[in-house]
Amino acid sequence: MEKINLTIDGIDISVAKGSTILQAAKEAKVDIPTLCFLQGVHEPGSCRICVVEVEGWRGLQPACVTKAEEGIVVKTSSRLVRETRRDILELILANHNRECLSCKRNQKCELQKLAEDFGIDSNYYEKKGTCVELDQSGPVVRDTSKCVLCGRCVSVCSNIQKVNAIDLAYRGPNTSVTTPYEQSLSLRSCINCGQCIKVCPVGALQERDDTEKVWKALEDPELHVVVQTAPAVRVALGEEFGLPVGTNVKGKMVTALKRLGFNKIFDTTFGADLTIMEEGTELLHRINNGGKLPLITSCSPGWVKFCEHNYSDFLDNLSSCRSPQQMFGAVAKSYYPQKAGLDANKVFVVSVMPCTAKKFEADREELKINGLKDVDAVITTRELAKMIKQAGINFNELSDSYYDELLGTSTGAGVIFANTGGVMEAALRTVADILTGEDLQTIEYHEVRGLEGTKEATVNINGMELNVAIAHGTGNAAKLLDTIREGKADYHFIEVMACPGGCINGGGQPILMDKSKTQEVNQLRAASIYSLDRTAVKRKSHDNPEIKKIYAEFLDKPGSSKAHQLLHTHYIARN
Ligand code: FES
Repeated sequence: MEKINLTIDGIDISVAKGSTILQAAKEAKVDIPTLCFLQGVHEPGSCRICVVEVEGWRGLQPACVTKAEEGIVVKTSSRLVRETRRDILELILANHNRECLSCKRNQKCELQKLAEDFGIDSNYYEKKGTCVELDQSGPVVRDTSKCVLCGRCVSVCSNIQKVNAIDLAYRGPNTSVTTPYEQSLSLRSCINCGQCIKVCPVGALQERDDTEKVWKALEDPELHVVVQTAPAVRVALGEEFGLPVGTNVKGKMVTALKRLGFNKIFDTTFGADLTIMEEGTELLHRINNGGKLPLITSCSPGWVKFCEHNYSDFLDNLSSCRSPQQMFGAVAKSYYPQKAGLDANKVFVVSVMPCTAKKFEADREELKINGLKDVDAVITTRELAKMIKQAGINFNELSDSYYDELLGTSTGAGVIFANTGGVMEAALRTVADILTGEDLQTIEYHEVRGLEGTKEATVNINGMELNVAIAHGTGNAAKLLDTIREGKADYHFIEVMACPGGCINGGGQPILMDKSKTQEVNQLRAASIYSLDRTAVKRKSHDNPEIKKIYAEFLDKPGSSKAHQLLHTHYIARN
């Protein structure tokens, strides 16, 4: 690799030719502040916070997009650089709603941190922008009074997710991020994945706050409130309390939920195992009976909505199985009250999800049974952390508790749903045992693991060759479906997760102050999930004793008419 030499703040350094000044500074361990820049997602060089001085060059240079050259001498903190950055910050702050105390991003806001670092304590410039929108119509809330026009949300929505629900519009002081025809997000093609929230440096994008709904249910003596927690939450919630990334806090989380007053604490992995029983059966039925292939998973509500908008010719390929959240909700309002001797109408089901799209899913008309929702409220990992803090619970000092029985026993298969490739691997474990009639000991399918955007493999099970593919991030899913449309690929089974990395990187997971660490954080959370699988007592969905029990006592068998009535659904083509 060809190298070049340069000097940054008096430090001589040699870096790969083609590196930007920002990358070179990182190697020299020199911090340059950034705001709009997010490597691999958004690199427009527009905010200018990262400007540096290069000796002999005219004007200041944005370090994030300026290539380093042989022999240059860079100053990253001269008086001119510091004062220019300060001026830029003051201009940005002039158009920014400064109600930091009441902002959900208080202390997790990149702009607030920059303002603090630069000691901004005045309001020197006048506000110029006039365009302010507050869109609270759906699970993703937009407040343009806080927007700094960095454009990260537009890039992640358009380039990574290929959703194109938002864009920069107008010019000069009226520039704003908005939707086509300025309609609310819920009326557009937004899939509610929340990836825009994850990259927003400030509080301009947030999830709808449903914590009050949950507090009210907990305070209602008439209601029996049960909660389910998705697998990805247990390896991320601890970050909200300062614990190392990837720490498994399942036991503390269950104790905290008991302390909050939930009547029963259950595990969404039960719903995941139920999904595998139904989806595995559906896959084998389609293969053996000439059904529509490839079968495509439908666990991710963001992906399902993306498919409904953009690939409606694939709707028959989607598995008819409800997602684990919704399967859990359906049995929590039928099987559970029957077993527990409760009035089903008094059971209130709360989900704790790493996902903002789950809020949309719980409201879908197609999923209502007799006109009633089977999941009453969905809160994200961040919202649960907020409730725990509001209740004054010292999370890090809690001892461990266990999930309640009946819908609370997990398997390794259910846990790995959190990772991209996890649903596929869990399904293969069950399908392989069904096809061989054996209790196979080799159950790890490493070919479907990892964070590459798409993966494919051919798995030979008892003479049957299964061609499988995995995509995470709807942009990658779009590429995969395009190859199928063009007749260039032939698969039996495809897993799609809307969020890059899968649920561990869902739109409801903790916000990172340093978003350049996203991949590293995803790897740590994913490793923690696989470690939970390795140490699980049961690692296959069909070995879950509670799953065996619900089929024996209530559902009869996978694919039965009762299972279809409660655990399956249909989809609709959307504009
Ligand atoms: Fe470099 Fe915005 S961070 S221009």
